[in-house]
Amino acid sequence: MTSNVTARTALILGATSAIAEAVARLFAAEGMRLLLVGRNAGRLQAIASDLTVRGAAAVETEAQDLMTQAEIHPLFDRLAAKLGGRVDYVLICHGYLGDQALAARDQAEADRILAANFSSAALWTLAAAGHLRRQGYGSLVVLGSVAGDRGRRANFVYGAAKAGIATLCEGVAHDFAAGGPKAVVIKIGPTDTPMTAGFDKRGPLWSKPEQVAAVIRRAADGSRPVVYAPGFWRWIMMVIRAIPAPIFNKMSI
Ligand SMILES: NC(=O)c1ccc[n+]([C@@H]2O[C@H](COP(=O)([O-])OP(=O)(O)OC[C@H]3O[C@@H](n4cnc5c(N)ncnc54)[C@H](OP(=O)(O)O)[C@@H]3O)[C@@H](O)[C@H]2O)c1
Repeated sequence: MTSNVTARTALILGATSAIAEAVARLFAAEGMRLLLVGRNAGRLQAIASDLTVRGAAAVETEAQDLMTQAEIHPLFDRLAAKLGGRVDYVLICHGYLGDQALAARDQAEADRILAANFSSAALWTLAAAGHLRRQGYGSLVVLGSVAGDRGRRANFVYGAAKAGIATLCEGVAHDFAAGGPKAVVIKIGPTDTPMTAGFDKRGPLWSKPEQVAAVIRRAADGSRPVVYAPGFWRWIMMVIRAIPAPIFNKMSI
């Protein structure tokens, strides 16, 4: 990647995600250099072509299954080298909603949910944090979920994994607090993407990827370690967390 080496750079992991793509469009409009990483090479290429038309200084792609990597730290450094060693933004976007009922009885499904949303995301977060720490600057953005704020019968395996990645990212942000790089976990509310394809999306609580992306873009340059997207979810989750268990247990949410 050689063109316009002074442009800011973003490394996007899980770049075929609808939310990641919406953020990438904002980055492209700012003329950034982008490296898109995901497991679907054809889809990455199509997104890269679109981002180039939208103003990105340069876009590269790298096909990687983010859940099967044994040597994530050296791989992260190799990806960073593709951006000339300068990484201004890292986004960790891959995730898997899965099937809660299946996960309750099937170890493989539970493992997929926990691995995609926690262990894989956590290992990439640690590798990115190490790189940004050595570099001395940069913004690490990890996509979490409001599902991590309170366990619910409908999705507590996914929720537990998202709670774990939120805690890990908060810890990285705390570690970075002395200066230099920063980290933020985005607690996203229900959003109309392929992940939620089977859901009834009527009602005011559903967002479009573009709304969530605008919040993520601002948060990437902000100083808060935890950001809700959209912001009203901070207040909703504050109320949900405060509901006493005897009442919560009677609710079908
Ligand atoms: N949509 C919501 O309501 C919502 C709410 C809260 C949080 N989130 C979180 O937001 C993030 C983005 O989700 P989304 O809504 O944009 O859904 P999405 O479009 O379905 O994106 C999920 C992405 O994860 C990628 N992925 C999964 N496993 C992977 C692997 N092993 N290697 C590489 N990529 C992998 C998928 O790649 P493929 O294209 O190859 O399948 C896909 O691009 C996720 O972390 C999700 O948990 C979403």
